[in-house]
Amino acid sequence: MVYLMTKKLDFIDIADFSKEELREMLNLAKAVKARRQSVGSSQDKPLKNKKIVMVFEQPSLRTRMSFDVAIRELGGEPLMVTGQEIELGERESIADTARVMSRYVNGIMIRMLNHTQLRELAKHATVPVINGLTKTSHPCQLMADILTYEERVGPIETANIAWVGDSNNVLTSWIEAAAKFGFTLNIATPLQYAPNANILSWAKANGAKISLGTDPYAAVKNADCVITDCWVSMGDKDEDERTKILRPYQVNMQLLAGSKPHVIVMHCLPATRGEEVTDEIMDGPHSAVFDEAENRLHAQKGIMAFLWGARLNNDGIIYP
Ligand code: CP
Ligand code: NVA
Repeated sequence: MVYLMTKKLDFIDIADFSKEELREMLNLAKAVKARRQSVGSSQDKPLKNKKIVMVFEQPSLRTRMSFDVAIRELGGEPLMVTGQEIELGERESIADTARVMSRYVNGIMIRMLNHTQLRELAKHATVPVINGLTKTSHPCQLMADILTYEERVGPIETANIAWVGDSNNVLTSWIEAAAKFGFTLNIATPLQYAPNANILSWAKANGAKISLGTDPYAAVKNADCVITDCWVSMGDKDEDERTKILRPYQVNMQLLAGSKPHVIVMHCLPATRGEEVTDEIMDGPHSAVFDEAENRLHAQKGIMAFLWGARLNNDGIIYP
């Protein structure tokens, strides 16, 4: 069986889309979330009769569950395979895997560390491919983070965002988003773990307002939102060294003292409590981390609705 699609769109990086397209996905997410909350169930079924495979090379709780639920609630049917069982990139070429999967399903959501291989998969798949995290970026997380920020604080465009910790996949997606939405992004990392120079120069050339330094107190000054992430990401090897070098970058109440009174703290989770973030922050009034986790579900519905052709107009959501 071959599913024919006239044109397919992938969701690989924030940088691949215009601000208007990203805003459309966020608006779709907000509309679908509001309808789900008002009626108590989802009425939006852009994935009706569609099968989406979720492929995981690495562990996951949020991405795994939120995509599964989102696909079902949008009327689709999820399948899951692990990288181990298909020996991704080992038993056959990534291109052939993409060609074969495209004969069975209508879309592919994949978590794999190698971003170049993900691009290769997307190039050869004839169905939409969604990045569920690579070592380079985590764009679905970013869409959930922006949704959370706008619910808790206000429009992202005027936000003062601080990143505290090491540079990683989530920060790269934040840097790309800074270029798209125009908010201020103040980054504090140890010198050893500073962001990639290419992505920074791309963002600055595209109008991003980004400051870079090593002092977490300077980065969080007047912040509306402070973001951190685990100090040891999937695929990182130097765990002991990282933990030692990153110790001054813990997000705790003392650090937040210079931020705005309404400051929220975001963390994509899973968190290592007592390392990059304290219990007091995680469980306190500034924490937005569990809204953020919930919003993975809603944001990904917006992304998938957009990829499968839904658009908003004055009458509401229009499905193809
Ligand atoms: N934030 C996030 O992507 O979590 P998982 O690794 O549990 O999917
Ligand atoms: N930076 C983290 C994010 C986990 C969701 C990692 O890559 O492990």
